[in-house]
Amino acid sequence: MHIAIYPGSFDPVTNGHIDIIARAATMTDRLIVGVAEDSSKAPLFSVEQRVAMLQEQIALIRKQNGSGQNGEATAEIEVAAFSGLLMHFAETQQAKMIFRGLRAVTDFDYEFQMTGMNRRLNPRIETVFLMASETNQFISSRMVKEIVGLGGDIGSFVPPSVKDALLAKFK
Ligand code: PNS
Repeated sequence: MHIAIYPGSFDPVTNGHIDIIARAATMTDRLIVGVAEDSSKAPLFSVEQRVAMLQEQIALIRKQNGSGQNGEATAEIEVAAFSGLLMHFAETQQAKMIFRGLRAVTDFDYEFQMTGMNRRLNPRIETVFLMASETNQFISSRMVKEIVGLGGDIGSFVPPSVKDALLAKFK
């Protein structure tokens, strides 16, 4: 069985993340969405909230699969929180592949460095990049939080329930 991990902070999950999950799920047997617990970014949502938001979105992806709209997403998709090193988490899950989404060229430096260091830690685990789809190129969780905090409309960046959770935080 081919196991892959899609790691991130997911604070909160955006339409960009959901697109990557659905596409990565067409390329592996089991996809574990790994939510980093101890993010250096001081997350807005607790790890439990981030996991719950992802689970809700994954249930929707599964539903779409059932309806034939996204018939190729064959992987079993699950969400798991992790702390410590991503490579250690990947080893315990027996994953052979890490998925990361890539947006603009500005992502490249950070991803290049992280991939290189992760590869040094475990050269048997490959990092694979999926280019963000056109509509999601510019979406970032950080900016979504900034926009909602300043009273802007985030409806086209995140799913409705995530928008509600964000509005509740900034009320
Ligand atoms: O969504 P993000 O914030 O870009 O995800 C970054 C994440 C969580 C994938 C990265 O910070 C990570 O892997 N953290 C776990 C700790 C770790 O392994 N650090 C060394 C990376 S070289």
